[in-house]
Amino acid sequence: MVYQDREKLAKLFEAEVERFQAAHPKSFAKHQVALGPMMSGVPMSWMAKWPGGFPVYVDNAKGARFTDVDGIEYVDFCLGDTGAMVGHSPDASVQAIAKQLAQGITLMLPTEDATVAAQTLADRFGVPKWQFTLTATDANRHILRYARHVTGRSKIVVHDYCYHGTVDETFANLDDHGVTVSRQNNIGPQVDPAHTTIVVPFNDLEAAEAAFATGDVAAMLIEPAMTNIGIVLPQPGYLEGLRTLTQKYGVILIHDETHTLSEGPGGMTARRHLHPDAVVLGKTIGAGIPAGAFGMSEELTKRVTDSLHLEHIDVGGVGGTLAGNALSMAAVAATLTQVLTPEAFVAMEALCDVWTADVQAIIEEFDAPWQVSQLGCRAEYSFRSSAPLTGREAANADDFELPQYLHLHALNRGILMTPFHNMALMSPAHTAEDVARHTEHFREAVASLFG
Ligand SMILES: Cc1ncc(COP(=O)(O)O)c(C=O)c1O
Repeated sequence: MVYQDREKLAKLFEAEVERFQAAHPKSFAKHQVALGPMMSGVPMSWMAKWPGGFPVYVDNAKGARFTDVDGIEYVDFCLGDTGAMVGHSPDASVQAIAKQLAQGITLMLPTEDATVAAQTLADRFGVPKWQFTLTATDANRHILRYARHVTGRSKIVVHDYCYHGTVDETFANLDDHGVTVSRQNNIGPQVDPAHTTIVVPFNDLEAAEAAFATGDVAAMLIEPAMTNIGIVLPQPGYLEGLRTLTQKYGVILIHDETHTLSEGPGGMTARRHLHPDAVVLGKTIGAGIPAGAFGMSEELTKRVTDSLHLEHIDVGGVGGTLAGNALSMAAVAATLTQVLTPEAFVAMEALCDVWTADVQAIIEEFDAPWQVSQLGCRAEYSFRSSAPLTGREAANADDFELPQYLHLHALNRGILMTPFHNMALMSPAHTAEDVARHTEHFREAVASLFG
């Protein structure tokens, strides 16, 4: 437990729950009806985790803000946990999507938008050949299959406490003895991930080399900075070291940039001049219209195409009927070229600099044993006094009730933070006024805990 006065925390939380419930009668009523036909009254089980007893129902979302059915307006720093990092319903994306909606949604035939999207990604990431899926999870699954297929090896290396979507091989952790085991909350795994996966700590080249030296490793799937257990930044030389080692042992290196795209139009890969064999994207590239993508180097592309027979290509485990559909491709082409532009990233990051500096100043003012880390237009504070070096260090500073209180405190003051995280994202639509609103809430919340 990272915050000791649990009685005080419980009381503070209770007061916020009362305030929340009094202000949201219409959301409450809608949730009561939803409890009938849906498990926990939500369309996906994790939505039941929002604090306050029931989730807020949204009436309308545009740019960095949304209004709920009770007429309350919020600044949205969650942005669909990156799904809406471009801001809600940006005009250019909406126009392209609406146009395509009227002209055919899915055809099993390519449209020119796919070429525009692929070329834009190739130019930005320096990875030449792209394929499209509906989610980042699918993109990860597919590239892992290709990696095992072309190497003839069975194992995948991932970081301890990683998250790459619902990809079976990644639901593994290191136990206290450094042994790879199934993750504690792994729901119904098909096989024990210890058979498919080797887990290594982030920022640990020695452990990575030991894993590669087994000769069984097809691929290493990484986020270049961890973002799903708070932010864990790479130490100087770590990412370059992984590249050298993966090349030495013939392991395919995959950068999952679904979240780390926050560092710029070409993610961390381009910004830090990195050269993985493959890159994975998803979530925001279609402004929230389902779309994922994976890019491959020329060499990997050749190995894949040389090893596949056209006759068998549709039912081999890589695919999806709606993958690359016309609507998704229209959304991705417009969003990448007109919304998620290099100029937009500059403004998003500048605003995030302010958010981060404000949070850090308040942490220092109240001597809270917390810290904040930034990754371009994404920032997150953690309940430890120094930046974590590994996923385990970050996980040890986790707390369930403390962020529940902070999130509800924020919600009651017109701010949506990312659930299960203390994370804020800046979209092209955010303003200095939005950041100031967060700063005011954060100061008040930290004062209530430490003042
Ligand atoms: C790094 C990373 N990769 C992949 C995914 C999967 O994205 P999706 O759930 O849209 O498939 C996530 C989801 O949070 C993620 O954080």
